[in-house]
This record gives sequence, C-alpha cells and structure tokens, in this order.
Amino acid sequence: MSDPAIRVILDVDTGVDDALAMALAVNHPRVDLEAVIAVAGNVSLDRTSRNSLKVLDWLGATSVPVYAGAVGPLSGVLREASYWHGQDGLGGACLPESSRGVEPDGIGYLCRRLMAAPGELTLVCTGPLTDLALALEREPRIVRRVREVVLMGGAARLPGNTTPVAEFNIYADPEAAARVFEQPWPITMVGLDVTERVRLQPSDLMPLAANDSAAAVLLREVCHFLFDVCGEDSLALHDPLALLVAVHPDLVVRRRHDVRVETRGACTLGMTIVDWRMDAPPPARHTRICTEVAAERARALFFTTLGLGS
Ligand code: RIB
Ligand code: CA
Repeated sequence: MSDPAIRVILDVDTGVDDALAMALAVNHPRVDLEAVIAVAGNVSLDRTSRNSLKVLDWLGATSVPVYAGAVGPLSGVLREASYWHGQDGLGGACLPESSRGVEPDGIGYLCRRLMAAPGELTLVCTGPLTDLALALEREPRIVRRVREVVLMGGAARLPGNTTPVAEFNIYADPEAAARVFEQPWPITMVGLDVTERVRLQPSDLMPLAANDSAAAVLLREVCHFLFDVCGEDSLALHDPLALLVAVHPDLVVRRRHDVRVETRGACTLGMTIVDWRMDAPPPARHTRICTEVAAERARALFFTTLGLGS
C-alpha cells in the first residue's frame, strides 16, 4: 500500500532554491500543494510574491494561490540575498510574468487553514520565519493544529553561511526564529548540516540541454546566474531538501533536542544553539534536528520527481 499524500502549505522567499522546492511540490505524486505564502527574504516581498506566481504558472500550477506574507522581519533591518539569487531573486530566469494577483493576508490565511484542518497540514518553510511567528502571535492554538513544521534553516554543528555562525533564514529574522523554536510543536530543522551535502553541479544540467520540459527549462533558467555568470561550481539544494524531507523523512537521521536562537549577540546574531545534553532541563527537546542525510538518494529523488532522471 503506497504512503498517503501529504497536504502542504509552502512558506517561501522565492529565490532560486525556493523555486526548485516549489517545482518538487508541484510534481511530487504524494504532495498536495494547497497554497504558497511569500515572505520577504532573499529579495523583497513584492519580488518573492511575483516570483512565486511566475514559477507556479510556468509549472502549470495555476490553481495554487500565492498569499502575501510579511514585508520584513519582526524587528531589525531587512536582510536580503540578491548577491546570490540575482536582483530579481530568480537568477534572471526568463519566464513569463504571471497575470494572476497575490492574495492578501497570508498570515490570516495560514491561521484559518491550520485551525480548520487540525492535524492535516504540513507547513514547509524555506525562508525567514516571520510569517510563522506572526501566525503564532495571532493564533497561538496553531501549535497543536499543525501536522508538522519542516523548516530549512539554521546550523547545528556547522558554521553559518551568512555570518560565521548564522544561516540566512535565521539571520534574516532571529526574533521570529527564536519564537518558532520555543513552541512545543512538531518541528523538523533541515539545517546546513544536511543541506550543504545535497548539491547540484553544472554537469548535472548538461544531459538536460535539449530537454524542453517545464521543469528542465526552470532548472536551467534559475541556475544560469550562479553557474554561468558567477561561476559557482555547485549549489546546495537547501530548500528542495526540506520539501523532500517532509515527504521522505527516512532520507535523514533526526535527533530531538532543544534549539535556541541568539537574538542579541554582536557577533552571534542568528546563531542556532542546540542543547545536545541528554539531561537537558525542560522544555521537552521537541525539535527534530537533521544530523545525517542520504545525499545521493536525495539527489536522485530531486531529478526523478522533476521527471529529469532515471
Ligand atoms: O541558507 C539558505 C537559505 O537561505 C535558503 O532558503 C535560500 O533560499 C535562502 O533563503
Ligand atoms: Ca529560501
């Protein structure tokens, strides 16, 4: 008997790898993508919203709505990553603009859906956690209603990728992340410890050069800036791995410990501190931290789910 489908709401800061995570969600036979909520992160909210619509329409998912999330972090400056994702956030991908509009009040939508479908919705977050923190503030009961929160963010034992100690999604809104990790809900943290090990190389795209499927064109277009302009020799599939872990949790080894986030440190802002002590005092060690990943199987799933590999 095949595993049941999972109903997913994506919270994204589309972004190059967010776009690839969306492509997986649209194409995975066991994912029912209900909606996308866009948050400011890699680039502005206006761009992450429009990028999300553009990617969904390109993939034929024109019935999946995009809601507007937070325009910036709970506090502090807006931090963005256009140096990596390009000014438009999609690596300059030549894809048609969507004619659809962005729905308002993504936070309200998230609260309403989680309250209306207790235990049924998996939330996959691949950007700063501002939307989730605001939803918690508006409706604290969602902690007991969500089926699972799978978030791409943080680093348990590795250095950061934005500062020496902080990963971008956490660094972009440390206060929001601190509030999210404090809550006793079923969270899986897909951090740099595992995402850095699942990588895409330019050579992966060579066999796809003549492939004109929507997924193949999307992959080439969003990777062009990093591979051909910036000369990167690989890129980590951060956000795609978070989506894959939500569907295939056996891809990773997870350890339950508490995670705290530095919200004030002059040099450590946005650091995720894991309490590895086995006799750690409460709260109840509820965050499942991914410590190992079957990297080659994750890569294979990435390509086969997109219809791009054997
Ligand atoms: O650190 C990687 C994360 O930051 C990814 O989600 C990427 O899209 C950026 O948002
Ligand atoms: Ca992202």
